Amino acid sequence: MTVQLVEHPLIAHKMSLLRHSDISTREFRQLSNEISSLLTYQACQDLPLETFEYQGWNGPMTGQRISGKKLTVVPILRAGIGMLDGVLELIPSAKISVVGIYRNEETLEPVSYFEKLVPDLAMRTAFIIDPMLATAGSLIATIDLLKQAGCTSIKALVLVAAPEGIKKVSQAYPDVTVLTAAIDSHLNEQGYIIPGLGDAGDKIFGTK
Ligand code: URA
Repeated sequence: MTVQLVEHPLIAHKMSLLRHSDISTREFRQLSNEISSLLTYQACQDLPLETFEYQGWNGPMTGQRISGKKLTVVPILRAGIGMLDGVLELIPSAKISVVGIYRNEETLEPVSYFEKLVPDLAMRTAFIIDPMLATAGSLIATIDLLKQAGCTSIKALVLVAAPEGIKKVSQAYPDVTVLTAAIDSHLNEQGYIIPGLGDAGDKIFGTK
């Protein structure tokens, strides 16, 4: 796995706002989506292009467009939903494959309870979205699902990654790229990223 820390003044600025202790649900949602758009811009950097002919206002033109089947965005429920609008802002025609995985708070192991993948995954690039790469359990489970469905082009977009999670994914999947807005210090005993964001799902959905 390759990890790409996406460094940009806008991301650094927005990440600092996102970490404020008194942030509102509305602000957290908006910033998560804005940072996700910036990550998406970077993640699309190597998408293949093809040339095509079209009629321009002044006559025939040769243009470029992204080739191949529409890519699929894969939000991991529930927190991944908090990044979806930001990704779709830049790729409005993307197909959405939803994966439901939660973390057993005692064992910290991933438990899968829902999956609805788009067809033809062997011909699509997948962008998995999940704000926190912590123990990496849900990300690894999702990569496994996509690979079993034939997907060979996988990137993950996260807001914050812990070194422990990065290490686990890189050992398991040399062919996957993770783009992250921040790499933080470590995981605490509860599996939270320090300094991290706290519980990203609760902050996105306003459930705390
Ligand atoms: N999930 C979260 O929401 N926050 C963390 O720090 C780790 C996992």
